[in-house]
Amino acid sequence: MLYIGIDLGTSAVKLLLMDEKGTIQKVVSKEYPLFFPETGWSEQNPEDWYQQSLEGLMELVAEADKSQVAGIGFGGQMHGLVALDKEDRVIRPAILWNDGRAEEETNYLNEVVGKEKLSRYTANIAFAGFTAPKLLWMRKHEPENFAKIHKIMLPKDYLAYRLCGVFCTDYSDASGMLLLDVKKKRWSEEMLEICGVREEQLPKLFESYEAVGCLKPEIAALTGLSGKVKVVAGAGDNAAAAVGTGTVGNGACNISLGTSGTIFISSKAFRADANHALHSFAHADGYYHLMGCMLSAASCNKWWNEDILKTKEFAAEQAAITRLGENNVFYLPYLMGERSPHNDARVRAAFIGMSMDTTRADMTQAVLEGVAFGLRDSLEAAREAGIAVERSKICGGGAKSPLWKKIIANVMNLKLDIIASEEGPGYGGALLAAVGCGEYPDVETAAKTVVKVTEVIEPDPELTAKYEEKYRKFKELYPMIKDWYY
Ligand code: XUL
Repeated sequence: MLYIGIDLGTSAVKLLLMDEKGTIQKVVSKEYPLFFPETGWSEQNPEDWYQQSLEGLMELVAEADKSQVAGIGFGGQMHGLVALDKEDRVIRPAILWNDGRAEEETNYLNEVVGKEKLSRYTANIAFAGFTAPKLLWMRKHEPENFAKIHKIMLPKDYLAYRLCGVFCTDYSDASGMLLLDVKKKRWSEEMLEICGVREEQLPKLFESYEAVGCLKPEIAALTGLSGKVKVVAGAGDNAAAAVGTGTVGNGACNISLGTSGTIFISSKAFRADANHALHSFAHADGYYHLMGCMLSAASCNKWWNEDILKTKEFAAEQAAITRLGENNVFYLPYLMGERSPHNDARVRAAFIGMSMDTTRADMTQAVLEGVAFGLRDSLEAAREAGIAVERSKICGGGAKSPLWKKIIANVMNLKLDIIASEEGPGYGGALLAAVGCGEYPDVETAAKTVVKVTEVIEPDPELTAKYEEKYRKFKELYPMIKDWYY
């Protein structure tokens, strides 16, 4: 049988066709625009997601034996607010996970409602990118839109709704709304009350691997797929990526180097981070995870190369980098503010330490290192919470770069287990579909059966020591600049 994974990302939708043994047959990617209507705001049109996904789906299965396709699963950019009216029309562009407009509402939640209560209701505190603060923002700034809301959903759930007509979400993605009691896996009455929403406006909750419905007849007709193709709930992109890299069960770690940068630690038992630096969310394997998320990771490198240097030759830029651990230029990766661990929607990116002999390669290197230091901040939060991490998987577009992987292994002092494909969320989505169709008994078995480590990148003690010193300097920078933005 064949399974499709759809990774609804921020820069593009990536679709993947996989057979029952986990062999990837084809990958298709379709881009869509991202809008920044004001500094720190970030929006997309759900119709673009749908159109590009549909086109991608048709291309993906064009030469395949369509009768063999049994299921579709998703990984989706998390936290985005998609609001539909009574006629199922999208009320306004989706407000994305890296949008910082709800700063005031975030402060209200954390300071007036209070972190202790939020944490009791949901296992998490508020961050501007989470869905609940955005609902409060909409209620205050766009009351006429807020009054029209009939359905609230997350990005991948919009796609599932268009493909199979079921208003659903899964626990991993719902965790990032700040409306879910993560431990008990049910909507939090208190949070619904605080945000002025009713349970019937929210999707039905499923485990990520559960089938929610089948393809609508018109989608089946358009794509040539059977109307019996099962659609499973899918997961937030980080949980799906974790499945796709075999980061399941207890104590496994995955780093995602996509538009955002995350460090994801799976756990069979529920736990919350007492310091609130890490998110405590449900996992797509039916259990839980802790996660730190930086808002701009591979997007820093994309911005630096494409927008500033005006090149798409990322590898050629990196080829000029020779002096690892010797760079005097530092880069703070806060293009969209920062989530973990600073929770600061206002801070912005910076270069510091240039001199007359600074080269273009030093600046590019600083960008790659700055992102690695940002990820290290989340790793330190995990270490502070008593979690020992010695090795990690890695996925996402940035993981295509051997140099960046080497920098990350050494800055974080972690062994990196490299797997055959860096298509984390799409592969995870397809595996979830395979589980939902009965191909594997559970997610852990599916992931452990198909995911194979092909190479290990070991940190080099000499370089690790140099980066340790650089990281100490990096850590001093945020406290020095943060007040400047207020
Ligand atoms: C996770 C997060 C990002 C997005 C990116 O909390 O906000 O990783 O899911 O797609």
